[in-house]
Amino acid sequence: MAKSFTLCYLLLFILPASMAATAVTQSKVTDNPADKLVAAINENRTAHKDSSLFDNPGLACLALQYIKAYQGDCGAVGGSDAKKPPESQFAEEFAPNCGVKASTLARITGRFLGCQTKYIHAPEAFSEILIRNQKSLDILYSKNHTEVGAAVTGTDGGSPYFWCVLFSNGKSNSTFAFEGGVAKPTKPGCYSGANDVCSGAHDWSQVSVMLLFTASVLIAMGFAFPL
Ligand SMILES: *[C@@H]1O[C@H](CO)[C@@H](O)[C@H](O)[C@H]1NC(C)=O
Ligand SMILES: *[C@@H]1O[C@H](CO)[C@@H](O)[C@H](O)[C@H]1NC(C)=O
Ligand SMILES: *[C@@H]1O[C@H](CO)[C@@H](O)[C@H](O)[C@H]1NC(C)=O
Repeated sequence: MAKSFTLCYLLLFILPASMAATAVTQSKVTDNPADKLVAAINENRTAHKDSSLFDNPGLACLALQYIKAYQGDCGAVGGSDAKKPPESQFAEEFAPNCGVKASTLARITGRFLGCQTKYIHAPEAFSEILIRNQKSLDILYSKNHTEVGAAVTGTDGGSPYFWCVLFSNGKSNSTFAFEGGVAKPTKPGCYSGANDVCSGAHDWSQVSVMLLFTASVLIAMGFAFPL
């Protein structure tokens, strides 16, 4: 209770100031941590002589919904209690929430999910949380993927922070299409591919630094599923 009050207080007073600051630099897509994560993935794939993947905003919005299915429960991401939303939830819940046409859903060929109580930047999330072993490298370098979507969010705008990457083998310009072709805003959280400045997580990092002084336990969870 005290913690969420502090957070609200910080959000009320810090966010408007930093939003005003980012409004000046509106054109910088690089302000979105989900876009930065996709950039890190594509850089690493191309350095490994694999194709660069199309950043599909519809798929990325599904990644954000995927995170929301965990309801902020970091412990459910990895370990013995790990859970995975059922496949049917993509068509029944994630797609309608995003305004993605169910008829344009394509196969998911890989997914990464990570959660950590401390906010870190996209390149570190990539190398420290999401890519942790040979299994995750095999998924990263799979030739099955043609497109990717990434999302990042903090629960109630704060810790824990979730990172999710979904890969698909669908045709880039015809799959995970939004109704009417327009990306549906689904705040809070940031997703890739929508040319959308989303500095929320950046602002949360300031907040989390303060909250961390009182947080004694740091959790880091990561999970990679081939399909
Ligand atoms: C790709 O990422 C992996 C995992 O973080 C890392 O070990 C490897 O050095 C990276 N490759 C390049 C070329 O950056
Ligand atoms: C690629 O797809 C094939 C066919 O569905 C599957 O058997 C294989 O495991 C996939 N490869 C990876 C690395 O996921
Ligand atoms: C989708 O991509 C295909 C192949 O790259 C291209 O032929 C087609 O014109 C594209 N369609 C649209 C609507 O951009």
